[in-house]
Amino acid sequence: MKTRVAILISGRGSNLQSLITAAAARQYPAEIALVLSNNPAAPGLARAEAAGIPTLAIDHRRHGRDRQSHEAELHAALQSHAIGLVCLAGYMRLLSPFFVAAWQGAMLNIHPSLLPAFPGLNTHERALAAGVALHGCTTHFVTETMDDGPIIGQAAVPVLASDTPETLAARVLAQEHKLYPATLAAVASATLPAPAPAAALSHLRRV
Ligand code: GRF
Repeated sequence: MKTRVAILISGRGSNLQSLITAAAARQYPAEIALVLSNNPAAPGLARAEAAGIPTLAIDHRRHGRDRQSHEAELHAALQSHAIGLVCLAGYMRLLSPFFVAAWQGAMLNIHPSLLPAFPGLNTHERALAAGVALHGCTTHFVTETMDDGPIIGQAAVPVLASDTPETLAARVLAQEHKLYPATLAAVASATLPAPAPAAALSHLRRV
């Protein structure tokens, strides 16, 4: 039986698309069962609709400053769709301890840098400014600290002398679109205790 996965997005959804495309293969161990967005105008929602995947826009602005009541609504939607794993894919909201704890060991994120380098925003600009020779992307389990948590997989790209933030971002994004589907497949087919202790994840680091 395939693991039922929800993808949380806020924007264009190119990583969502890579997961939808991978999950269309018969032998892929996960099924994209729901796409949620905090932003009703997220272009990624149309990608899910085109693939016949149920979507829900749960606008955080309706909840004012009450982050937890927004997340309670997200959580209820995940439960009512019998979701087993959550993938953040360009989801631009910080998550509160309540939601992180509810999905501990069952929520993944992709970040456009080789963590622990460059957590946060504008990673490509910062990598160029720092003069690193290698840049890339990371998949990890979500913990309370942003862009932290046990690393599952990484993909590196060389930084070229001619790179701009845009060219570097495009080279990293091409790797994200391979790394995230490979990571989700590895996690969905692994038997992970929940919550997953870091030691139990060591066999997943070579995705
Ligand atoms: C990606 O670079 C991802 O690593 C980061 O946000 C961006 C989302 O892009 N977390 P997309 O919406 O998947 O195209």
